[in-house]
Amino acid sequence: MFKPQLIGSVRSPYRDTASIPRGLGAKHAAEGVLEILPEFESGLTDIEGFSHLFVIWVFDQATGFELIGKAPTDDRPHGVFATRSPRRPNPIGLTVVELLRRDGCALHVRGVDMLDGTPILDIKPYLSSIPMDALRRGWLAEAEAAKTQVEPNS
Ligand SMILES: C[S@@+](CC[C@H](N)C(=O)[O-])C[C@H]1O[C@@H](n2cnc3c(N)ncnc32)[C@H](O)[C@@H]1O
Repeated sequence: MFKPQLIGSVRSPYRDTASIPRGLGAKHAAEGVLEILPEFESGLTDIEGFSHLFVIWVFDQATGFELIGKAPTDDRPHGVFATRSPRRPNPIGLTVVELLRRDGCALHVRGVDMLDGTPILDIKPYLSSIPMDALRRGWLAEAEAAKTQVEPNS
């Protein structure tokens, strides 16, 4: 195994987890900054051409893990690898953000769902070749359908 090294940290408007939108239909439109350490700045060369990025980061405020748990989006328990729970064996988060602009080591982005100060492990351009109609959303689609039946106008 390799030893992970941090490449930077997230500047986010969120100081506590309760303030981060969650649950079905939650929108992640908050703006933030990915502050990359100066020694990695040259690795950002040509990143401006990409509209969206994958950010790979550490759930540094999470403790322990549970293999079966409940997500805020559903009453039923699910396996951790079928959810985006912070409480996972390797506490790694993955968020797709929109790149608004680059200012040296600072990537201004929209769509953060991390706490302020969250450590960043990696950044990659977001590329998806999977057509929407080939994607299956598992239990989440069932939870969304159930919610639509309960709240037809939501
Ligand atoms: C459901 S997770 C999804 C994160 C990411 N989009 C993913 O799929 O891996 C998002 C939640 O993680 C929690 N969170 C955000 N930053 C965190 C951090 N640095 N340490 C621990 N938990 C964090 C917050 O409760 C937030 O609502």
